[in-house]
Amino acid sequence: MVDQAPDPKVDPRTFAEPAPVDDDQLEGVLRQATQMLKDAGIPAARGDARALIAHVLDLNRSDLYLQGARRLSDAEIEAIFPLVERRADREPVARIIGEREFWGLPFGLSPATLEPRPDSELVVEAVLAAITVDGVLPVDRPFRIADFGTGTGCLMLALLNELPAATGVALDLSEDALIQAEENARHLGLDDRVEFLLSDWDEALDEDEVFDIIVSNPPYIAGDVIEQLAPEVRDHDPELALDGGEDGLDAYRALAPVIRAHLADDGLAALEIGFDQGQSVPAIMTAAGLRADPPLTDLAQHPRCVLVRLPKTP
Ligand SMILES: C[S@@+](CC[C@H](N)C(=O)[O-])C[C@H]1O[C@@H](n2cnc3c(N)ncnc32)[C@H](O)[C@@H]1O
Repeated sequence: MVDQAPDPKVDPRTFAEPAPVDDDQLEGVLRQATQMLKDAGIPAARGDARALIAHVLDLNRSDLYLQGARRLSDAEIEAIFPLVERRADREPVARIIGEREFWGLPFGLSPATLEPRPDSELVVEAVLAAITVDGVLPVDRPFRIADFGTGTGCLMLALLNELPAATGVALDLSEDALIQAEENARHLGLDDRVEFLLSDWDEALDEDEVFDIIVSNPPYIAGDVIEQLAPEVRDHDPELALDGGEDGLDAYRALAPVIRAHLADDGLAALEIGFDQGQSVPAIMTAAGLRADPPLTDLAQHPRCVLVRLPKTP
């Protein structure tokens, strides 16, 4: 007789009811928290519940699986459910936890900082790809980098982390965002290579200061779209980080002359753009006398990043 693998359609294990668990066991708390989030219409309910419980218990994801049968103390349970309620009220997990990972690095958040988005990693990736020569990242080059609208500092600090000889200036109009960015830089051990400046775009820079690399993820949401954003964004990301004016393009109009004035001759600027700004932003840059590449696309194939250079000298 040939030994056959059990047919998954009839394997009783496949259809087994979830094992019974008590309410004070970790798996039981996870099920209750997941149900609360599902009832509130949170799409990734189980993942979010898991992240919040892992945060309170200071466990990583795999420990969370392995310790499903663990009985939680009253204090642990009492610490978990208020956080689940906050998530049910549409506060993002990262805001509740106070931290968000970007480019594999931890970034503390404050009410004044945008929560860094995975899409913005494309800006870092595009810069690193553009400066790589023959497959080698020039880690010895003392690049000067400027980050306009630094928020948590995620773009600048990710680049400094990859480029150990680089230094930079990170600017923002929000003093509170800069306080958070500075704390993030200290936490990552990068604070000795970056200066934080309170500035309306380039206002605080010397007129003749130039940079090899300029990055910016400016506010680019059109004013009347902000009300329609998901509550996680609309009610928790700061308006100064979102509002791009009536058509969403105000910041690019302001940044075009800034890039012209502060980009080194062979320098490179990388700008994050909104999914529907793949034509308008390059047009603004070109009208300011800059060269703009066709936009790079994100994982969802939306235009997300424009590389800009000074015009070629004859
Ligand atoms: C979309 S957030 C980007 C934050 C961060 N760079 C990131 O990628 O997550 C835009 C940032 O620009 C800042 N900002 C808005 N207007 C500004 C201005 N006129 N000058 C400097 N920074 C500004 C906001 O405070 C906010 O931190």
